[in-house]
Formats: sequence, C-alpha cells, structure tokens
Amino acid sequence: MASQQVSKIFVIGGTGAQGIPVIRGLVKDKKYSCRVLTRDTTSKRAQELLSLGNVELMEGTFGDESKLQQGFSGCDGAFVNIDGFNTGEKTEMYWAIRSYEIALEQGIKFFVYGNLDYALKKGGYDSKFRTGHYDGKGRIGEWILFQNQKNKERMGAALFTTGPYIEMTISSMTVMTPTVEDGVVTWRVPLGKGSVVHVALDDCEYYVRWLFDHPERASGLDLEVAIAPIPYVELAAAFEKVTGHPAQYIDTSLEDYWKIMFRDRAGDIPAGYNADPKDKSTMSFKDNFTGFWNTWKNDVIKRDYALLDEIHPDRIKSAEEFLRKEDQKGREAGKGSLWDRVQKENQTAILKIGEDGRKGKL
Ligand SMILES: NC(=O)c1ccc[n+]([C@@H]2O[C@H](COP(=O)([O-])OP(=O)(O)OC[C@H]3O[C@@H](n4cnc5c(N)ncnc54)[C@H](OP(=O)(O)O)[C@@H]3O)[C@@H](O)[C@H]2O)c1
Repeated sequence: MASQQVSKIFVIGGTGAQGIPVIRGLVKDKKYSCRVLTRDTTSKRAQELLSLGNVELMEGTFGDESKLQQGFSGCDGAFVNIDGFNTGEKTEMYWAIRSYEIALEQGIKFFVYGNLDYALKKGGYDSKFRTGHYDGKGRIGEWILFQNQKNKERMGAALFTTGPYIEMTISSMTVMTPTVEDGVVTWRVPLGKGSVVHVALDDCEYYVRWLFDHPERASGLDLEVAIAPIPYVELAAAFEKVTGHPAQYIDTSLEDYWKIMFRDRAGDIPAGYNADPKDKSTMSFKDNFTGFWNTWKNDVIKRDYALLDEIHPDRIKSAEEFLRKEDQKGREAGKGSLWDRVQKENQTAILKIGEDGRKGKL
C-alpha cells in the first residue's frame, strides 16, 4: 500500500470546541498544515487559529458541494466534524456522506471522521435511547468503515469517536452547566446513578494527531475515547477536593430538568437550529436530549481504556485530574480559580454554538 502519510489537512469544524485543539495538535511542530472551512473568516476563533501558523482559512459552508470540492482539492488529509446542531440529524447524514465521497474524488489519502456513538444501536434499538446528534454520526461512522473495506488503498479512513466534553460541566450554555446555589456548586441533571463518558478536549489534540501520524494502524479503526465513566457524585466530590468549595449533584427527573432548562420557553424547538420544525423526522431539542440522558443514565456506552492507555499513556484519567489541570491553566491565564470561573457572571461558553446563540447559515 502506498503511504498515507499526509501533509495538508482540510478541516471542517475547525473553529469549534473540538476543532481548535485538533488543529493545535496538527500544526504545533509544523508537521502538518490545515485549511479550515468556516462561515466567517473574521470571527475571533478563526483569527486565533490563523495566529497558530500553518493555517489557512477558507470561507464557506459544508452545505455547499462546490465549497467541499474546493476545500478538499489540493489537500491530502481531512478531518471532518459536521455540526449536527446546525443541520439536524437527517441533513447531517447527507453532508457527511458527501464529504466522504468528495474527499475520495479529490484524492484525499487519509480521512478522519469526527464521530459519536450510535446510541440507539448500542441501546438495543430501544427508542428511549434515540439521540439524533449521536445516531446521525454513528450510522455514518459505520458506513464509512464499511466503505473503507473497499476503498482503503485509495483513501484510508478512521473514526474519532468522542463524547460530551468535560469542559461543558464548568461552562455556560450547555446541557450540564452548573449553578451556584447558596455557595454550593450544583449539577441538576437526570443522570440517576449512571455515568457520563466525558472527554477532555486537550486529549483530542493528542488523539487526532496520533491518527494522522499512524495511518497504517489507524485506517479502519474506530478510536473511541474518554477520560473514564464519570458519575456526577464523583464529579462533585472532585470539585470539592480541588477547589475546597462545596459541590453537589442532584439527581433530577426529566420533567424537572426540562422545566429548569426551558423555564417558560418552548422545548419543542429542533435540536438542529436549521432543521425544519415541520419535518416529522426532525427531533426536538427535548426529545434529542431525553435520549441523551437516558443513554448515560443506563450506562449504554463503553470504552476500551487499556487501548487508550497504550495510545496515550499521559491521557487525563479522572474528573479530579481534569479539574486540577483546568484550575491551574485558568490561574496561569489570568482567569482566576475554577471556583471563580463557575460563578454565573464569570462563566464562558466552550461551544461556538453557545457563543453564536444557536444561529448561523447552513
Ligand atoms: N458538545 C459536545 O460535547 C460534543 C462532543 C462530541 C461531538 N460533538 C459534535 O460536534 C459537532 C459540533 O462541533 P463542536 O462540538 O466543536 O461545537 P461548536 O464549538 O459549536 O463548533 C461548531 C463548529 O461547526 C462549524 N460549522 C457549523 N455550521 C457550519 C457550516 N454550515 N459550514 C461549515 N462549518 C460549520 C462552526 O464553524 P463556523 O461557525 O466558523 O462556520 C464550528 O467550527 C456537533 O455535531 C456535535 O454533535 C459535540
């Protein structure tokens, strides 16, 4: 097989929470350069990427075939994270398939797909686990691995399967944003005694770099990453230990969770902000995240931690380790302690969608 070592990587989703560390990992020693597709080359995040060096920006949307042709053309690698919270499940699947096909057509040698677990299948096809933004990726992930059996000589492909970023537990505008109630940091979520297989964004930097550095091993691989299964009792205890301030997890019924989440707003808005609310296949935000929480509550999703230890021995291995590092990082960056950062007035958005207020073009 010809080498599938690449040098120039077309990135979709580069300005996002996941894309930024991924690109940092690729360009930090100048081994790779990245062409980043963004709808706005002037945004703060796009400009920060430019300042890393070895990064070029290309204005456009993944929802335009001519932009995909142009973006893949002249590159030999690809990292594709299609934003399902823009498109909704159905449209995400279409553009993910077209991205793979156009990548082949344009001569990409190695393709990494930003994937999520196929929760419905892993939950035994019980509709209570139906999570559009997971299933939409997970189905296409399987389809890509299937195509790769035939296409791997022409273009290798790997899945990079993540999960909820642990940074979301200390950030604003996420489904697990904490509140500070009478001086106690509080997570009110419908998790029961289940655990979330949270992922640390800094580790994404390492893992995706590893995939591109090892195409012969990575081709056909579904690299499913996580820190560990984290029950929120453990998250709260870790927060207390690291900061010295009280924290608690309050198991919350789905009904109460949605009351808190939406207050007097409508819960039936589509999960994808550009999905058609009149299309019966469009999942509402509420239905989508009901499936999401049921999936974690029932510990549906597993990981092979021995494999992760082998690939990334220095990976973050517990909530406490993450919080400790994050506390130190924040202090060094002049953002204050973790305790300061979770106060409502100091919280910041880790997700671009949160910063952008769930809007933007398809
Ligand atoms: N939140 C989580 O815990 C988590 C974990 C794993 C995977 N995911 C998945 O990751 C995806 C979102 O990425 P993220 O987590 O990095 O969120 P994010 O911070 O909100 O970033 C969204 C990214 O998608 C890009 N984007 C959106 N619409 C686009 C379009 N039409 N054309 C080109 N680029 C577009 C944005 O670029 P511009 O705005 O610059 O155009 C930005 O880079 C979703 O599919 C989500 O399900 C999320």
